[in-house]
Amino acid sequence: MASIITTVTLCNILLILLLSSCAANAQLSANFYANSCPNLQTIVSNAMTRAVNREARIGASILRLFFHDCFVNGCDASILLDDTSTFTGEKNAAPNRNSARGYEVIDTIKSNVEAACSATVSCADILALAARDGVVRLGGPTWQVLLGRRDARTASQNAANNQIPSPFANLAALTSSFASKGLSARDLTALSGGHTIGLARCTSFRSRIYNDTNIDANFAATRRANCPASGGDNNLAPLDTLTSTRFDNNYYRDLVAQRGLLHSDQELFNGGSQDALVRTYSNNPATFSADFVAAMVRMGNISPLTGTSGEIRRNCRVVN
Ligand code: HEM
Repeated sequence: MASIITTVTLCNILLILLLSSCAANAQLSANFYANSCPNLQTIVSNAMTRAVNREARIGASILRLFFHDCFVNGCDASILLDDTSTFTGEKNAAPNRNSARGYEVIDTIKSNVEAACSATVSCADILALAARDGVVRLGGPTWQVLLGRRDARTASQNAANNQIPSPFANLAALTSSFASKGLSARDLTALSGGHTIGLARCTSFRSRIYNDTNIDANFAATRRANCPASGGDNNLAPLDTLTSTRFDNNYYRDLVAQRGLLHSDQELFNGGSQDALVRTYSNNPATFSADFVAAMVRMGNISPLTGTSGEIRRNCRVVN
């Protein structure tokens, strides 16, 4: 009798585990808005085409916004909430202040989407689509974005300060930061390829160009010319030396040549576990693209709010 009860209980537990893991995997889907907002993807991609034509860098900035959203309590558009006198969000956390950009483009897309299908599409999903479309517009690979995320009603400056990896981190710290989000070292190396586009401020790479020894001497000298030992904190340099508005594999060629701009970039090719993969990506753009796309989907799956959790924000900057 006791063993029957145990078996029944065990079966129940297994069933619950099975159902909850199905739910976890079935949370997001490519056709989530197929009926409720059929033109969503066209609206987002048209707006991103306009935005990138106006300023190529914006594709990079929006890709980074998505990363900074997903790494802080999941892809829930928490990064888009403005600070108010009674609310402290993530925009002024150290990794974002004077650095994260592209919020206005998301506002424009959101109002276009609201005009077509009001109170239906989350800001978190708009950001996921816009990030993909920015990459595509800059010549990168495309992928199917899974949808169905809802928007957070909270944000955490503290979590943004602690959970977004630092450009001064070593490989072990980077790997463990990504592992804490369920992402592998391979995902880390593929996603860091996002640095094939966009710019960084002197303050983010000063210690690298003045103190690091695993750096090409000519490259360091060139970067020092526009990033003095003190002052010029906001002076910009491309993360990819040659093609910072083209999504390609040149970032990895830079790493192999010790021309990584951030200390964290060069950590991926510094005699450690990721050297072989960096070399592969530097020689094989198709392998990089395939891994980048798969890793973007995994990053986009980090702890989404679904079902009745969270809300569909009307204005991405404020909780309803
Ligand atoms: C691996 C850990 C990472 C670190 C430590 C890191 C750090 C940084 C830093 C310091 C900057 C320059 C910010 C500034 O100076 O204003 C930057 C820019 C950027 N990051 Fe990362 N990042 C990481 C991973 C990623 C990932 C996973 C992506 C996307 C898949 C990404 C996409 C970008 C882009 C596109 C830019 C340029 C943004 C612009 O031009 O506005 N980064 N990153």
